[in-house]
Amino acid sequence: MRMVVIGGKGQVGSEVVLAARSSGLDVVSLDHDSIEVTSQASVERALSDIGPGDVVVNTAAFHQTDRCEDEPDRALSINAVGAYRVALEAQRRGAAVMYVSSDFVFDGGKREPYVESDAPHPINVYGMTKLAGEFLVSSANARAYIIRLSAVFGPAGSSGKGGNFVESMVAEARAGDAPKVVDDIVMAPTSARDAAALMIGLTRAQAPYGIYHLANAGQCSWFEFADTIFTLCGARTRPERVPAATMAGKAPRPPYSVLASERLGALGLMAHPWQDALRGYLSAKGYLKNRA
Ligand SMILES: NC(=O)c1ccc[n+]([C@@H]2O[C@H](COP(=O)([O-])OP(=O)(O)OC[C@H]3O[C@@H](n4cnc5c(N)ncnc54)[C@H](OP(=O)(O)O)[C@@H]3O)[C@@H](O)[C@H]2O)c1
Repeated sequence: MRMVVIGGKGQVGSEVVLAARSSGLDVVSLDHDSIEVTSQASVERALSDIGPGDVVVNTAAFHQTDRCEDEPDRALSINAVGAYRVALEAQRRGAAVMYVSSDFVFDGGKREPYVESDAPHPINVYGMTKLAGEFLVSSANARAYIIRLSAVFGPAGSSGKGGNFVESMVAEARAGDAPKVVDDIVMAPTSARDAAALMIGLTRAQAPYGIYHLANAGQCSWFEFADTIFTLCGARTRPERVPAATMAGKAPRPPYSVLASERLGALGLMAHPWQDALRGYLSAKGYLKNRA
């Protein structure tokens, strides 16, 4: 089985490439120079070598949530129509597709972890285009995995978002700053490395197609996440807790978007607690000072 990773230099994609290689899969990493998902000709050219049994992992996205409000055409074109184009090309060639989606397909009204069977209801343009992408991908390709992640942190940092939250907080901690961080938005942080391992686990287990929630286990507010980062880095300062209303961006955010899986256990797979994943990330980067 060959795995073709679109966005292979991105935060999630780079970890999928590493995890696939270390599990012995034949991997092709496609960066943005090698494929443009908004171009039919580019998608056909880049995927011309795939065949039955292969899996195309599509991590490409326009995911700057506030900018998506101003540029819905671009968001739809990459997150939904582009995803459809990739899924259809994979289908034509007998390959499966893995589309990476988001916790922002939910509205946050549930206030307990969202599982795969929960009905989505996005409240911003980014979430709407990701949900449209999910629908189009599943309609175009009978062998489709929809992988939902949230609040991702990986060593490469998100190229589309210019880094990741953990790196921003480490920089603030090292500078002795006390950043304002919202305490009334609750989510499940996702280690790109852990998510990639689970994505490979799904393909290895020949898991049934469909939706999977692959966030790390547990939940926290952004403030709690920041505070834990400061603690583990041995910072002398602390972040300051503020309500989301004082930091409002253009796009509304779901106040609660914790993802949990009702499907992984049956496959012998399990998401690790986010605290363990964070500790592993900080340790690998040489940031870890406290073992608290
Ligand atoms: N980051 C998060 O917190 C988060 C949370 C939930 C879900 N997700 C989802 O996870 C996925 C991966 O996120 P990430 O953090 O790994 O993002 P990322 O680092 O920005 O990676 C996305 C990759 O896709 C490439 N790309 C962007 N537009 C493309 C296009 N039109 N055609 C082909 N390639 C394109 C980018 O290349 P260039 O940078 O060179 O343009 C980049 O390498 C996305 O689908 C996102 O919606 C992310």
